[in-house]
Amino acid sequence: MPVITNIDDLKRIYKRRAPRMFYDYAESGSWTEQTFRENTSDFDQLYLRQRVAVDMSGRSTATQMIGQDVTMPVALAPVGLTGMQHADGEIKAARAAEKFGVPFTLSTMSINSIEDVAEATTKPFWFQLYTMKDQDFVSRLIQRAKDAKCSALVITLDLQILGQRHKDLKNGLSAPPKLTPSTIANLMTKWTWGLQMLGAKRRNFGNIVGHVEGISDAANLGAWTAEQFDPTLDWGKIAKIKEEWGGPVILKGILDAEDAKMAMSVGADAIVVSNHGGRQLDGAMSSIKALPSILDAVGDQVEVHLDSGIRSGQDVLKALAMGAKGTYIGRAFVYGLGAMGEAGVTRALEVIHKELDTSMALCGRRRVDELDRDILLIPQDFEGRWQ
Ligand code: GLV
Repeated sequence: MPVITNIDDLKRIYKRRAPRMFYDYAESGSWTEQTFRENTSDFDQLYLRQRVAVDMSGRSTATQMIGQDVTMPVALAPVGLTGMQHADGEIKAARAAEKFGVPFTLSTMSINSIEDVAEATTKPFWFQLYTMKDQDFVSRLIQRAKDAKCSALVITLDLQILGQRHKDLKNGLSAPPKLTPSTIANLMTKWTWGLQMLGAKRRNFGNIVGHVEGISDAANLGAWTAEQFDPTLDWGKIAKIKEEWGGPVILKGILDAEDAKMAMSVGADAIVVSNHGGRQLDGAMSSIKALPSILDAVGDQVEVHLDSGIRSGQDVLKALAMGAKGTYIGRAFVYGLGAMGEAGVTRALEVIHKELDTSMALCGRRRVDELDRDILLIPQDFEGRWQ
């Protein structure tokens, strides 16, 4: 096994091991992928201020996200089809997160079900909800998350219709993969993945298959979203879901200060500044660029988190210094999972933790909850001036 020192090392192994269709699913943005690219490259515009001769002993990255203790403010984001990247992927990622002391968020579009993950873990995880036209199904999902003792509901607001990712259409993305000649040719080169997958608990959408009737194609994410997701979702409906859930609610997919204010007014416990990893509205601003105006609008009244673009502890540090109270990694943990299963997710968390801790120290800070913009050099026109 090669020495893994950074997230890119995991990505290289993941690319070799995972079927092309699932690698492409994770590694794509929508349309031209401008937003997908800028989510990461915009972090490079922020510089860290090196400070010296500051006592750096007794450091800690521990803090809280929505009042829950975390080893570092880096949660695992909800990622659809995680259990196709590696057999029992959601169970393995949840276990790695639990051992590390960071939140794991299970996607509605996961392979392992809510119950599978609850059974395999000992601490509460978070559940991400997509709202569907079938209200009874949504209510049952909420009840299942309550029964599993999930400690937060993460409602995704930016995917009522699916942004087009060209490769998914070209590859015929499905779970389990449909065996076309080109898929078979690719799977022939992925023996370890295939053998492990034969022993997996599930190979289809575990929260859905067996829980709803009359689906035309439950294996196809695109078809499912087009048929089932609720295009009429609005703030009133979000408030009702919050009431039905009765616990902490995180609203994910906020990129605009006006929406941040609305999210606050329906009582969100936290919001996630996110463009869905550049997978939805291509041409939208990167999350890190959108963050300052959202913090200005609501940052002192609601906990503001950020996802989309984080691939290193330095990225986490920049987001926290800018003012976010928490961050999420999606692709960065999927690379680890696809490369090495649970150990790979642990490795991804270790890499990011070390980068965060060391970089924080080199900026002359000892605690993540004391970070502020003073450790950043922010270009004057970072947010841009728009008409
Ligand atoms: C679903 O959440 C996706 O981005 O594919």
